[in-house]
Amino acid sequence: MKKIIIPLLALTLSGNTFAQQKDYGQKADSIIALMTLDEKIGQLNMLTGNWEATGPVLQDVNKSEMLKKGLVGSMLNVKGSKNTRQLQELALQARLHIPLLFGQDVIHGYRTVFPIPLAQAASFDRSAVKDAAAVAARESAAAGIHWLFSPMLDVARDPRWGRVMEGPGEDPYMASEIARAMVEGYQSAGPDGLKMMACAKHFAAYSGAIGGRDYNTVDVSMQTLHNLYLPPFKAAAEAGVASYMCSFNEINGVPSSANKYLYDLLYKDWNFKGLVVSDWGSIGEMVVHGYSKDRKMAAEQALNAGVTIDMESYCYIDHLKALVAEGKVTEETLNAAVRRVLIQKYELGLFDDPFRYCDPKREKASLLTDENRATAREVAGKSIIMLKNEAGLLPLRKAPASIAVIGPLADSKRDMDGNWVILSHDAIAVTVLEALKEEYPKSRIEYVKGCDVNSTDKSGFQAAIEAARKAELVVLALGETWDMSGEAKSRGDIHLPGVQEELAQAVYQANPRSLTLLMAGRPMIFNAIKEQAPAVLYCWWLGTEAGHAVTDVLTGRRNPSARVPMSFPSHLGQIPVYYNHKNSGRPPVDQAGNYSGRYIDIDYKPAYPFGYGLSYTTFAYDNIQVSTASDGLHVSMTLRNTGDYDGNELVQVYLQKLWGESTRPVKELKAYEQVFLKKGESRQVELTIPYKELAYYGQNGWQKGDGDYKVYVGRSAAEVVDMKEISIVNF
Ligand code: NOJ
Repeated sequence: MKKIIIPLLALTLSGNTFAQQKDYGQKADSIIALMTLDEKIGQLNMLTGNWEATGPVLQDVNKSEMLKKGLVGSMLNVKGSKNTRQLQELALQARLHIPLLFGQDVIHGYRTVFPIPLAQAASFDRSAVKDAAAVAARESAAAGIHWLFSPMLDVARDPRWGRVMEGPGEDPYMASEIARAMVEGYQSAGPDGLKMMACAKHFAAYSGAIGGRDYNTVDVSMQTLHNLYLPPFKAAAEAGVASYMCSFNEINGVPSSANKYLYDLLYKDWNFKGLVVSDWGSIGEMVVHGYSKDRKMAAEQALNAGVTIDMESYCYIDHLKALVAEGKVTEETLNAAVRRVLIQKYELGLFDDPFRYCDPKREKASLLTDENRATAREVAGKSIIMLKNEAGLLPLRKAPASIAVIGPLADSKRDMDGNWVILSHDAIAVTVLEALKEEYPKSRIEYVKGCDVNSTDKSGFQAAIEAARKAELVVLALGETWDMSGEAKSRGDIHLPGVQEELAQAVYQANPRSLTLLMAGRPMIFNAIKEQAPAVLYCWWLGTEAGHAVTDVLTGRRNPSARVPMSFPSHLGQIPVYYNHKNSGRPPVDQAGNYSGRYIDIDYKPAYPFGYGLSYTTFAYDNIQVSTASDGLHVSMTLRNTGDYDGNELVQVYLQKLWGESTRPVKELKAYEQVFLKKGESRQVELTIPYKELAYYGQNGWQKGDGDYKVYVGRSAAEVVDMKEISIVNF
């Protein structure tokens, strides 16, 4: 593209020509007054770029022509500052020269890849999550992006659903904390002054897909909708998130893309001022759902319900004009939607300078910096859960003379990144093998793959066994390849794939000094490893600094502090298994017997419960006190590091409301804090649960939540340190 001159009209529309205090709404209105119907509809039309498709491409259109006519308001999947500049230049050739918005699925980092969101959730560390989001935002902004399609806030109970990797795990309170941390991290302007729009998705209840099969129908009660799925979305609104994305599913017979109940809640009850984007093609898909008669009706239903932008279904661009002419969509409704889009463009400063995000020099200087990598290493280390550590195998006290590194994931760069690294395919992640060689330059390190991730071929076992026999230490890296969890990656069987578990057992036989690293996008089932492995670290997909984060833990430079963010089932038949379930009148009991809610053939308990995770040190809790004050419930204790290492303890407080207007879960996490103590150190710790956290949606709508409670301080949802009963009234 040649350099283009922005004509005078654009300047009269730009923020500079308006008095500073004049608000963006008024500015937007003055543009709307100049717009034709086609131009207005164009602002509500989002198209994909040609670099990557993250959904089925429906129409082969001449995008350049559409841009030049002002028929596109935003784009996704456009890579880098050069390309975004080029398309922006095309858009500015349109009559009113309104700049484009560029959105992107930056789910766990742009160029510097962070651990997947589920792993970040495992850190139970709000500032780590915020830091990761801030780095992702700075890198994306430098690459021409304005809008991140994150955070994904779908609280999930079914690990067969491949998208659990993108989300916050199974707890609505923690998910709300993550929502706040991510929105703040994404949307705070950096030193470059560039702001980002975040996007809370998928609104709502997408993770309830029946059978864990992606895009499937959801059957959700009002209580579950409000108590489980919606809290993090409300938290995002409170944190000032700029946008929401519809989910693909229906709720009570109405697809989210036209579910007025949801958008009334959003715009009216939560006072949300930003915009709502459909998911890819989701407006048109309402025809397939059997809700809309045709794509035209789908456009009418979506816009009238409150969906501002149509991503890639072409329903708005193809049909809104006729719908306005027929009076089925009022021009007022259309204008209100356009206004929401224009206001965001003002907020980002795009009317002042449409190219302010497109600076190749800044892009080059900002991506994958040492500082960003250091943050990624830190967050990755905080995301590793130690599930088992028998006989103190870890941390390693000295360099082993020889290490056998075994397994299909030990030296696979691409798999370290995991899914949803849309524009960062040239994998540069540090593998475990590389990091071990760097850490122990004098050790004899032999790598044997042993088997592939997902095959039945055991021909590599013998070499692995021999390598294991000869070595002082074995490091086994097993799990899922990067494309086994993610969108449209549901698995009906979430056992560790292929013959990997058999390989592990053979290796443990050969050498009991074996450390197993499990890398995946979801909780998997691996009962033989659980029983037989001497030590297990759950490493998820840790991103660019994966290998270094692992050696940080191995050597003891970092004491593991992450915890299970989503229950790990021990059997497929338990799914969904989650800690915050209701009690029933006949809860399961451990002993076989009559008429309890247990299985007769498998355990009813998860392999690893929510909140579980080990440390190199130990902690003692003393003097636990529970009291009420004007600002909420206070839980205090003296926490002491009684072991040999400095480290973090995750203090967890769960509540159980014993009886009332509606039944409530057996436990609900209501406060948590990572507390760092040096070895031998003790500290007074106090957590406050504001009374508003007790509110719940019951049979009669919202309830305050006063009444009789059990208050649990736990090492996990299953392991109680102490329990106190208290009546919480008069607040
Ligand atoms: C579909 C996914 O559901 C959504 O999360 C994503 O943002 C869009 N595609 C765009 O890639």
